[in-house]
Amino acid sequence: MLILSFLPFIISIATTESTPTKSIPSSFYVIPLGTTGGLEENNLSAYLITSTTDNTPNSAYISLDGGTIRHGLQIAVQKNSLSSDTDVETFFREQIKAYLISHAHLDHNSGFLLNTPNDKSGKFIIGLNETITIIQDHYFNNQAWADFGPAGLKTYDYQILDPSSTNSVPIANTDLNVRIFRLCHTCPYLSSAFLISRRDQSNASVLYLGDTGPDDVEKIVQPDNTTSFPRYLDKMWKDIKPLVIADQLKAIFIEVSYPSERPDNLLFGHLTPKWLLEELKKLNAYHSIEKVKIIVTHIKPEKGAREKIIEQLKNNSNQHFNFIFPQQGEAIWL
Ligand SMILES: *[C@@H]1O[C@H](CO)[C@@H](O)[C@H](O)[C@H]1NC(C)=O
Ligand SMILES: *[C@@H]1O[C@H](CO)[C@@H](O)[C@H](O)[C@H]1NC(C)=O
Ligand SMILES: *[C@@H]1O[C@H](CO)[C@@H](O)[C@H](O)[C@H]1NC(C)=O
Ligand SMILES: *[C@@H]1O[C@H](CO)[C@@H](O)[C@H](O)[C@H]1NC(C)=O
Ligand SMILES: *[C@@H]1O[C@H](CO)[C@@H](O)[C@H](O)[C@H]1NC(C)=O
Ligand SMILES: [Zn+2]
Ligand SMILES: [Zn+2]
Repeated sequence: MLILSFLPFIISIATTESTPTKSIPSSFYVIPLGTTGGLEENNLSAYLITSTTDNTPNSAYISLDGGTIRHGLQIAVQKNSLSSDTDVETFFREQIKAYLISHAHLDHNSGFLLNTPNDKSGKFIIGLNETITIIQDHYFNNQAWADFGPAGLKTYDYQILDPSSTNSVPIANTDLNVRIFRLCHTCPYLSSAFLISRRDQSNASVLYLGDTGPDDVEKIVQPDNTTSFPRYLDKMWKDIKPLVIADQLKAIFIEVSYPSERPDNLLFGHLTPKWLLEELKKLNAYHSIEKVKIIVTHIKPEKGAREKIIEQLKNNSNQHFNFIFPQQGEAIWL
């Protein structure tokens, strides 16, 4: 009894002082800084990612969205995902090298925006032209917030990515490359996905999606009532199919905001378990994705929603998808 009750204590001491390491070979290290799809302002979409060398995380991180930054870093230190002697301010300034913003909604930007006054200059904000234009015109306009962009205080430069390009481009001051895809998030409002790959190891990549609705729901209605469906998810699944076949895609970060009962006319550009499974089946039809970790993001913090969504995704008896439900501050090795 005595030995058993001491065991957790001994384990926590053993991990506290050490840098995170892992025994199974990995390519990436991810720290979720915030995981909910709204309301909890200390826990909003933001995922740090870096490459690993010999199963040790490298020092140059990028942030995929920036809903919650500082509080998430504090939780990451508490949970030993960053070493216990990490100074959050120094880490934020020195080790987050770029912000990749999927779309301009505040639940994906607020933590980043509020921390801009203390940030180190020379970093890039990376995204679609449409997203960067909103940040420039509606946040960095010297009214909503000071202009931290290249025409103002110059803390950040903008890196506009072209969704029609099939190339991955380097992210400055990191060993990572990025390619962007368009997504619909209440058409015609655009969101985007980032394919992150290692420059030195082209066989390892992860796909991070911002908010998106299902292809069958996201439509454009013209004034004369003719309707078209952009089907951006379909197009992206086709584009990443070779990576799945070559066993190079480690993970897909994808949203599920509401339980499956949510009617299609109230999705507001989001997915449910039912719709996520429909979309994953399309990709799985090209090649089994059972080895690809499906990291479920952006669950709305309504009472009981998380438990219900987990049950609805796991109750998917004839497919073998590898779902992961991230927790704030708890690292994921990929
Ligand atoms: C953040 O949100 C997640 C998922 O919705 C939840 O499980 C977790 O407890 C929250 N973290 C904190 C520190 O409250
Ligand atoms: C971005 O969009 C603006 C406004 O539509 C346009 O003027 C500009 O040329 C675009 N920039 C790039 C790099 O596509
Ligand atoms: C990826 O390539 C590196 C060398 O570039 C190799 O060490 C590693 O085992 C490869 N990983 C996979 C999953 O093929
Ligand atoms: C389009 O549909 C709406 C609602 O269904 C209808 O009120 C409107 O008259 C239609 N417009 C045209 C040009 O058919
Ligand atoms: C689980 O799946 C079965 C069979 O498809 C269905 O009858 C049941 O309602 C599902 N349960 C939940 C919680 O979705
Ligand atoms: Zn959102
Ligand atoms: Zn959104």
